[in-house]
Amino acid sequence: MDAEAQLNQPTDAELIEQIDGALDGFICDKITDDLEDAVCYALFGGGKRIRPLLCLRACLAVGGSVEAAWPAAGAVELIHTFSLVHDDLPAMDDDDLRRGRLTLHKHTDEAMAILAGDAMTALAFEMLAVNIQDAETSRRCAVKLSRATRDMIGGQVYDTFGEFPESWDDMTRLKMTHSDKTGALLDASIQMGAICGDATQQQLEALEKYAYAIGLMFQAVDDLLDVTQSAEKMGKATGKDAEQGKLTYPGLLGIDGTRAEIQKLLSQALDALSGFDTKADPLRDMAKKLATREH
Ligand code: IPE
Ligand code: IPE
Ligand code: MG
Ligand code: MG
Ligand code: MG
Repeated sequence: MDAEAQLNQPTDAELIEQIDGALDGFICDKITDDLEDAVCYALFGGGKRIRPLLCLRACLAVGGSVEAAWPAAGAVELIHTFSLVHDDLPAMDDDDLRRGRLTLHKHTDEAMAILAGDAMTALAFEMLAVNIQDAETSRRCAVKLSRATRDMIGGQVYDTFGEFPESWDDMTRLKMTHSDKTGALLDASIQMGAICGDATQQQLEALEKYAYAIGLMFQAVDDLLDVTQSAEKMGKATGKDAEQGKLTYPGLLGIDGTRAEIQKLLSQALDALSGFDTKADPLRDMAKKLATREH
């Protein structure tokens, strides 16, 4: 039996339904129709909703409620989706397929995809500011999400331009790129959830360690699947990282080395949760599922 059922926590499917409803309700009628169509195409296109789930599970793990964390969960999915829309643009990874269908710039055009990404960024911070009632909680979430967004963009700059301080060896470059471009938003998801659940400083620090490990692990798995998985299964092009000369885990460690690293990072993530009770079991399950995911 899954941890959430044993604990009487909602299932992932139930949480995703709530998040989708919250995002839909929030976005409705705030922007012009053509922009809203573009935002909704990207946002409701079949993403796995990993970041909102982590946010809500972190809130539940520290004793908070889903009600307290939904604005943060929605906000981080908006930022994540903006990052994907821009990541796929011709000037960046130049991809035609995302979440099993045409990327937004292929579905509409480049200008609209750029503007939809811009709009999602603004909407994310509006969602935090308007919907988190406690002013200090809202402020702390905004600090986390804005810093993570800035780090994500910094990681994308490393990934796109490959300009690093000369003193960094390849593994340092890889870890900095991956922890910034991918880890930062995963960390913000978890930290915001915990903040909304009134976590203690000790809990926040432990969750930061968990987040750092799953951040690197998540991108290591993404890099591995780019090499080993079909585009059909992934819903996005594969085999592109090597083609575009990206710095990746399989590129540095090989496939077996990457698999070993994923297991090491999974153990680190689980160790970080050792001080938590069973309310954190769904977070433990998520780490295990993310380590073994196939798409
Ligand atoms: C893809 O993230 C981009 C990376 C950070 C590797 P996800 O695999 O979470 O994408 P969706 O949201 O499920 O499409
Ligand atoms: C994307 O990394 C990270 C961000 C969007 C910030 P990738 O370029 O590896 O993601 P995919 O493989 O296109 O989903
Ligand atoms: Mg990219
Ligand atoms: Mg990409
Ligand atoms: Mg990738």
